[in-house]
Amino acid sequence: MAPLSPRRSFTCIGILACALVLPPQTCMDKHQVVGVLRQMEKFLKGQEMRFTEGLRIMKSKLATLQNSVSKMPQAAPTSCPPLGAPAFGTKFGSKHFVGHEVHFTCSQGYHLAGSATRVCQDNGTWSGVSTVCKVMSQCASNPCQNGGTCVAGLNQYRCTCPQRWSGSHCQHPTQTAPPEWSVVNDPAFSRRPRCAQVNQEQHCSCDAGFHMSGTTDSSICQDVNECEVYRLDRGGKLCLHECVNVPGSYRCSCPSGYKLLPDGRSCEDVDECLSQQHNCSRGTTCINTGGGFQCVSPECPRSHGNTSYVKTSPFQCERNPCPMDSRSCHLSPKTMSFHYLSLPSNLKTPATLFRMATAAAPGHAGPDSLRFGILGGNSRGFFIMQRSDRQTGELILVQPLRGPQEVSVDVDMSEYSERIFQAKHVARVHVFVSPYNF
Ligand SMILES: *[C@@H]1O[C@H](CO)[C@@H](O)[C@H](O)[C@H]1NC(C)=O
Ligand SMILES: *[C@@H]1O[C@H](CO)[C@@H](O)[C@H](O)[C@H]1NC(C)=O
Ligand SMILES: *[C@@H]1O[C@H](CO)[C@@H](O)[C@H](O)[C@H]1NC(C)=O
Repeated sequence: MAPLSPRRSFTCIGILACALVLPPQTCMDKHQVVGVLRQMEKFLKGQEMRFTEGLRIMKSKLATLQNSVSKMPQAAPTSCPPLGAPAFGTKFGSKHFVGHEVHFTCSQGYHLAGSATRVCQDNGTWSGVSTVCKVMSQCASNPCQNGGTCVAGLNQYRCTCPQRWSGSHCQHPTQTAPPEWSVVNDPAFSRRPRCAQVNQEQHCSCDAGFHMSGTTDSSICQDVNECEVYRLDRGGKLCLHECVNVPGSYRCSCPSGYKLLPDGRSCEDVDECLSQQHNCSRGTTCINTGGGFQCVSPECPRSHGNTSYVKTSPFQCERNPCPMDSRSCHLSPKTMSFHYLSLPSNLKTPATLFRMATAAAPGHAGPDSLRFGILGGNSRGFFIMQRSDRQTGELILVQPLRGPQEVSVDVDMSEYSERIFQAKHVARVHVFVSPYNF
């Protein structure tokens, strides 16, 4: 239906008004008016339909819009919460944005539980489960037979066998007294077994670190002395220093002046000088040694004749100028320096301990040759001094030094120009050897 133009509808109304107000002889007859009214009725119907159709389209558009708005995601997360490395493990990957991955590994001797890889998901959470590094236990496979108790050590395991069994896996029957690694007659190191009735039979077991002992009627769980089990072990000692047996387990201890490292078995020297735990008085210098410290204040060589020294720094002395014709003064050391080293006992040899070199003063030609030697303190032949390159000599320890002890060795470097002696420099190397080989 073609829409009616405004002009046409105006005409229509004009016609109607005429029909109502004008006398019948000048106006349309009744038949004509009925026709016009029908036409108007039709027109209104058309308008009504178009209006309804418009409303329907608008409603449908509104519904679509409402639908899509409700489905719209809430401000999508762009990253996941930070994840740390597990204890005894390492995390690889530092980005925490959606789609990024982080990976985990565990230190040697630990195995990974949980997810090795985690992905930051679209909803801002990490995939997988949290990662932990657990101490590796070779005991997981129950390698000990005949009721033997598996004792996990460092990268290895041992079976501690009940009485009447022996062998690496308790496979051999024997008749012996209680094994030496068992802590007997100490209530603190005993536990009651946990027993359960299964099919009219009593089954008892001990906690980890304990083993079953005694008769079937009166059995008891006795502590396994892990320190004893691994006492003479060549495959890697449980503890770097000392093993302390505790009920169900063991711990390592370190000598005083050392601290236990997070691995639970190694010891590290405490640097008392760095941590200000020393009581060195003014004028002395703190030198950290294995397990302790020393307060040092080196003294310059005594004056004799025309030769005298002045301290130019806490560890350096310089000779005062010599009279021109005093040969003994010129031959005495031009400089004397002091060096302190702390070594573990029985350090593997050969070991280079110290290097000595010359440096020409700016604007002066340096010496054209150098000679190195040991002046004193080497009566037992622990050291050699040798040239390592044209400008440098090095002090090498050639025999292991067993601690605790202190050794002092004087090394010298003589400078020559065109084969004429110029000056001698002396370095006193003082070595503190700790009582321990760590
Ligand atoms: C995040 O999405 C993952 C997979 O798309 C789903 O397994 C997990 O349950 C979701 N977490 C939350 C809190 O919505
Ligand atoms: C520092 O203290 C120790 C004991 O802690 C003591 O034996 C030593 O004499 C003291 N040294 C000085 C220089 O006071
Ligand atoms: C010190 O030097 C002077 C010359 O300046 C000399 O006469 C004297 O003998 C020297 N003394 C010694 C002890 O060498």
